[in-house]
Amino acid sequence: MILVTGGAGFIGGNFVLDWLVQQDEPVITLDKLTYAGNRDTLKSLDGDARHLFVQGDIGDRDLVGQLLATHQPRAVINFAAESHVDRSIHGPGDFIQTNVVGTFNLLESVRAYWVALPAEQKTAFRFLHVSTDEVYGTLEADDPPFTETNTYEPNSPYSASKAASDHLVRAWHHTYGLPVLTTNCSNNYGPYHFPEKLIPLVILNALAGKPLPVYGDGQQVRDWLYVTDHCSAIRRVLEAGTPGETYNVGGWNEKPNLDVVHTICTLLDELQPRSDGNAYSAQITFVQDRPGHDRRYAIDARKLERELGWKPAETFESGIRKTVAWYLANQDWVSNITSGAYRSWVDKQYGAGQ
Ligand code: NAD
Ligand code: DAU
Repeated sequence: MILVTGGAGFIGGNFVLDWLVQQDEPVITLDKLTYAGNRDTLKSLDGDARHLFVQGDIGDRDLVGQLLATHQPRAVINFAAESHVDRSIHGPGDFIQTNVVGTFNLLESVRAYWVALPAEQKTAFRFLHVSTDEVYGTLEADDPPFTETNTYEPNSPYSASKAASDHLVRAWHHTYGLPVLTTNCSNNYGPYHFPEKLIPLVILNALAGKPLPVYGDGQQVRDWLYVTDHCSAIRRVLEAGTPGETYNVGGWNEKPNLDVVHTICTLLDELQPRSDGNAYSAQITFVQDRPGHDRRYAIDARKLERELGWKPAETFESGIRKTVAWYLANQDWVSNITSGAYRSWVDKQYGAGQ
């Protein structure tokens, strides 16, 4: 079996659901259920003998040690993190605690388990750390996309904390021989995405008749990957990646933010037109820019394609259509998370009443 941390979040949740569609190997999900973790995402697995959900912190060495000793996983896949850049600007402490200290504690729990495994299981074991392209910093318009050899130049508290965790993972391989794999992926989108992030926020605000907040001039570029393509890349790296190596994951889909927002508006105009006949794009509102906002990210995913034969299945056009349709069809999932703490965040970030 495998142990997945952060499996009640956006990407981890999609990964667990997709894993159990692809195969029957059991999964333990360990998740702290912060504001970003949602048990509903895994509701379809209730009663499924292949899945065990455990609420807990990756930094809790007793709990993690006990889970490892009891279930003897062949791999740990670490998605658990604080993941939102804007929240890291308001309050970096949680990011240091989970992404840096939590990853350190998790590595130590895993190392203690791994070192005592019988030789064959020890060789086969993998610790896969899920990271981000933001660790490489920002690109100018005509720079080539990030490769695995780019220097780390993180600019936000979030990306600095992820960079620190990547360095710890690397060091645990070089110093202790722990068989680690690291993936650095570009921006994901798709089902179960928490609506503090651009794409789900815009879909939900549009439907609610609220402003669609575009930071600065809206010309910042992100490289979008449909979430199940990220999941298939992680499965492939887990299966065939070389311990100690890092793999960039991306979909060759660079888009300025404003174009992404217009695309969503056009899809909503088609799928659920406004009752007043106006276009959703009328709701676009330019707001104050994010401090230290990285201008452009772009991933060169050729190593993963060349060495492991991975390619994304979705284009941006197919993926964004599926995503908008998913949010229209899953209003229950949305309404369960857009109360309480979510409202306080929206008030803090965009001003009361938004
Ligand atoms: P998310 O915020 O949606 O989910 C994070 C999950 O981790 C939540 O379920 C949360 O409850 C859990 N968690 C947080 N702290 C924990 C702790 N201390 N112990 C156990 N669980 C904890 O994040 P996401 O967007 O799904 O991202 C998952 C991973 O992928 C992160 O490591 C992130 O840095 C990385 N990543 C994200 C993207 C993206 O576009 N979203 C792209 C590349 C890499
Ligand atoms: O690149 C990978 C990263 O992508 C992941 O490591 C992060 O966990 C993930 O959150 C994401 O980070 P971004 O900051 O790129 O994603 P976000 O959805 O917050 O913002 C996308 C772009 O849209 C960014 O340029 C900021 C802008 N934006 C965002 C919000 C929330 C807006 O213009 N308005 C908004 O209201």
